[in-house]
Amino acid sequence: MSTGEALQTYVLETLNKDNVIENTKDLNNADGQPIEQLTLLGALNSLKSKDMVDFTFIDREVWFLTEEGEQVAAQGSHEARVFDLIPSGDEGMTIADVQAKLGEIAKVGQGKAFKNKWISKKGGNLVRLVDTIVDQTQSDLQQIQKQGGHSDAKLLTDLKKRKLADKQKLTSYRVTKGSEFALEIKKEATDITYEMLQTGEWKNASFKKYNFDAVGVPPTGGHLHPLMKVRQEFREIFFEMGFEEMPTNCFAESSFWNFDALFQPQQHPARDAHDTFFLKDPATTDRFPRDLMEKIRVTHETGGDTGSIGYNYTWKEEDAGKMLLRTHTTAVSSYMLYKLAEKTKAQGAFKPAKYFSIDRVFRNESVDATHLAEFHQIEGVIADKNLTLGDLIGFMDVFFKKMGMDKIRFKPTYNPYTEPSMEIFSYHEGLKKWVEIGNSGMFRPEMLQPLGLPSDVRVIAWGLGLERPTMVKYDISNIRDLLGHKVNIAMIKEYPVCRLDKKMGKELVGLSKDD
Ligand code: PHE
Repeated sequence: MSTGEALQTYVLETLNKDNVIENTKDLNNADGQPIEQLTLLGALNSLKSKDMVDFTFIDREVWFLTEEGEQVAAQGSHEARVFDLIPSGDEGMTIADVQAKLGEIAKVGQGKAFKNKWISKKGGNLVRLVDTIVDQTQSDLQQIQKQGGHSDAKLLTDLKKRKLADKQKLTSYRVTKGSEFALEIKKEATDITYEMLQTGEWKNASFKKYNFDAVGVPPTGGHLHPLMKVRQEFREIFFEMGFEEMPTNCFAESSFWNFDALFQPQQHPARDAHDTFFLKDPATTDRFPRDLMEKIRVTHETGGDTGSIGYNYTWKEEDAGKMLLRTHTTAVSSYMLYKLAEKTKAQGAFKPAKYFSIDRVFRNESVDATHLAEFHQIEGVIADKNLTLGDLIGFMDVFFKKMGMDKIRFKPTYNPYTEPSMEIFSYHEGLKKWVEIGNSGMFRPEMLQPLGLPSDVRVIAWGLGLERPTMVKYDISNIRDLLGHKVNIAMIKEYPVCRLDKKMGKELVGLSKDD
């Protein structure tokens, strides 16, 4: 029999004898030791689930001694120990000796013993004033130790103040017989088994009741980070609109795809180590298509046959080969458009494409409450014949409406790879102003033509951050609570799944990068 079952049997036998257990605190086990009330509760709950017993809670306050209180109860109060140490007679003992023997309790003990008129000073020594003393504190504490309390309430508060005693709440139980009271505990089945069905035993079996109050076991499996939950919502929007996800699972990228393929000149300030994290190992690569590289070189230097005059400088392969942590997911877009051009050539016909990605990018920026050196970009790209700026504006309208933002405006801006380029603004009802939410544009011919796309193919694209909507959704005001070593892991487990709703969209526009 397990201890739990033994305890249940013991409770049943006691009830059989006495009809009621007034207070389980008085129950002792076979060795005469008091029964641990928490263990007993398990036994009582189990019996109650079978209606064999009933019970109510009895709360009581119990006083106990602190570590120092225990010490005083065993060895006497500090003042009594000072008194005991000093021999009777006029000689007494030097203060230094008392100090040496009793250590840190000597000072407090002396003070109290003086106050109690047990000792005094004579010729520089401590001497006794009385022959015997009563150590009331010690006997008070011993009484509390024995009885868990004291009749003198003032004394108790005083001892608590002196940190010698404290009180705690303890629970015990009053137990009575239940409607199904019996001495024998029937085994209850928890599940129907194959054997029970085979033998027909299930018909007579008694089943354990479901305990709907039981606390469930928290699932131990993995949890999605809030950013990944919000990412999933954006993904759904893109999929709903017929987009294909781009493979962005590689953070390390060449300057070639991140900058050069995007017609970003090699002396552009963004290509500086102040803005970009360059890799040390491997520091360089030459793994990009040679023929494309030559076309890009010519376009940067003279504009080639794109109708542009280029940047009029000497393009260097070494700069294109520098490895970096991608500064935007547009690096992947440029690669995907190159792949699209190759596919078009292989198939002899162009098929429109819609791509998106939501992944991490890195910038060598100073970190504060709203900026990290890494963040996630949401990027969309549409390639089709004869797309116009009107298509981009129209598409933006639909896309942002799906996120609950219905007032959208555009402002011209500059990107090396798009022309025209537009910052996207949305009206914030709360702040009563237009705030920036993203960046967009039509990829320039200087970018598209070297990639090899047919000359009537236009590509519109846009990008926005993922952190902002996530912080709005989960009410996080400091980005460091969302990403990095200060993140509370419990938060990841507890945050609900994300649903993009109208309200969120409205608030989202209040958190533009430049606010
Ligand atoms: N790459 C831009 C950024 O990092 C966003 C963008 C993407 C702009 C595509 C225009 C077109 O901010």
